[in-house]
Amino acid sequence: MDLRNEPNIEIITHPLVQHKISILRDKNTTTSEFRRLVEEIAMLEGYVALSDLPLEDVEVETPIEKCMTPKIAGRKLAIVPILRAGLGMVNGVLALVPSAKVGHIGMYRDEETHEPHEYYCKLPDPIEERTIVVTDPMLATGGSAIDAIQRIKEYGGKKIKFMCIVAAPEGLERLHRAFPDVQIYVGSLDRCLNKDAYICPGLGDAGDRIFGTR
Ligand code: PRP
Ligand code: URA
Repeated sequence: MDLRNEPNIEIITHPLVQHKISILRDKNTTTSEFRRLVEEIAMLEGYVALSDLPLEDVEVETPIEKCMTPKIAGRKLAIVPILRAGLGMVNGVLALVPSAKVGHIGMYRDEETHEPHEYYCKLPDPIEERTIVVTDPMLATGGSAIDAIQRIKEYGGKKIKFMCIVAAPEGLERLHRAFPDVQIYVGSLDRCLNKDAYICPGLGDAGDRIFGTR
C-alpha cells in the first residue's frame, strides 16, 4: 500500500512541523521543551486537520453595520487523548477550539506482548454529532489507536480524526485498513518498528519524555 497516496491519510510536510519534530527526536531535548513542542505541533496539525469543519453564516453587528459572517456550525468538537502521551497534544488543539469537550481513553501497552490494555474511558455525551479528534503522538503497532477508536465507535462516534506526531508504516497501514473512514494526520512517517515495537528513528517513549518519568 502506498501510504503517502491513500485517501484519508495526510502526512504533514510543513517545514515548521518537520523542524519541531527533529528537536523532539533529539535525546538531549529537555522535558519542558519536549512538552512545549508536542503542544505546538498539535496546534499546527490541528490547523490542517480541522480545515473541513462546516461553517454557517450568522448575523453579527460590527461597529459599522450588521452583516452575515461564517462561524463553525453545529455541535463542535470533542478531543479524545489516548492517555498518557496523547494528553500532551490536547492544549494545542484547545488553543484553536477552546469550546471543545475533552474525553479520555487510558491505554497502556504490555511491554512483552505490545498489546494495548484499556484502563479508563470517559467520553463526552452525546458524541454522535461531534467531530472527534483522537490524539496520540505515537502510532507504532497501531493497537492502541485501533482499540481507542473502536471504543469511540461503540459509543456512537462517527466523524473521527486521528492525529499523531510520528507513525511507523506498520501501524499506519493497520489503522487505515481497520478504519478507512477515519482521517489520519501524521507529522512524520518513520522507517519501521524495532523488535521492542518502538518506532525507528522515532523519539523514544513519548509518555516518559512528556511527563519526565523513567
Ligand atoms: C504509547 C503511545 C501510544 C502507544 C503506541 O503509549 O503513547 O499510546 O504506545 O503504541 P502502539 O501503536 O503499538 O499501540 P504507552 O503504552 O507507552 O503508554 P503511556 O502513554 O502511558 O506511556
Ligand atoms: N510508544 C512510544 O512512546 N514510542 C514508540 O516508539 C512506540 C510506542
